[in-house]
Amino acid sequence: PAIATVIPAAGVGKRMQADKPKQYLPLCGLTVLEQTLHRLKQVPALQQFYLALSPDDRYFPALPLATDPQIQRLDGGAERAHSVLNALLQIEAEVFPWVLVHDAARPVVRVSDIELLIQRCIATEQGGILATPVRDTMKRGSGIIQETIDRSHLWHAYTPQLFPTAQLREALQQALAQGVAVTDEASAMEWAGWPVLLVQGHADNIKITQAEDLALAAFYLEHSV
Ligand code: CTP
Ligand code: MG
Repeated sequence: PAIATVIPAAGVGKRMQADKPKQYLPLCGLTVLEQTLHRLKQVPALQQFYLALSPDDRYFPALPLATDPQIQRLDGGAERAHSVLNALLQIEAEVFPWVLVHDAARPVVRVSDIELLIQRCIATEQGGILATPVRDTMKRGSGIIQETIDRSHLWHAYTPQLFPTAQLREALQQALAQGVAVTDEASAMEWAGWPVLLVQGHADNIKITQAEDLALAAFYLEHSV
């Protein structure tokens, strides 16, 4: 079945404290956004990309990607979930029954992990996300430890996240309308009562958030994992 790809790239990158949004910072000779697209485009199942940009974005038009016929631009919203929903409103579920959402700020995602996610979700007809089991001991508390949490069922949630298009659109719309905190697509789907698969990926799928993350991402890209 056909899969549309949504890339939220409308953030300002406040925590990065750079002179431009982090998706436009240089990483191994390209911008972060170009590296991300480069990885996604290596997956043959992904052919159509919906890119959510800030309405006053002036960086994207300067990239060679601006003339790529596989990329459709649209306006992002106030929060990541609104950017994703704006994209979903442009995608026909009859044409693209599945939608894969991937952060512009995760340029190191492995092609083989994306393919594993797609294979697992489509085979079981369930939505799913890439994730890794938590490695450190987890504590709850503030200042003083209240308790140690059993980490055996805790996961770090990444993108990509893959869902049936109509289900995700409905879940996001309703969750946002009811003021539910939607930090990723899975949280809206969980809230709506859908099962979501945890597909084990790799911890090098970092999200560029702060300056030091760029050096780590460059290391991973250069060692071409
Ligand atoms: N994003 C988006 N629309 C928003 C906010 C975020 O499309 N209104 C995108 C970002 O561009 C990024 C992804 O969602 O690719 C993950 O968000 P995050 O890492 O939080 O990026 P920013 O919001 O840009 O960073 P910060 O929170 O530090 O400001
Ligand atoms: Mg943010």
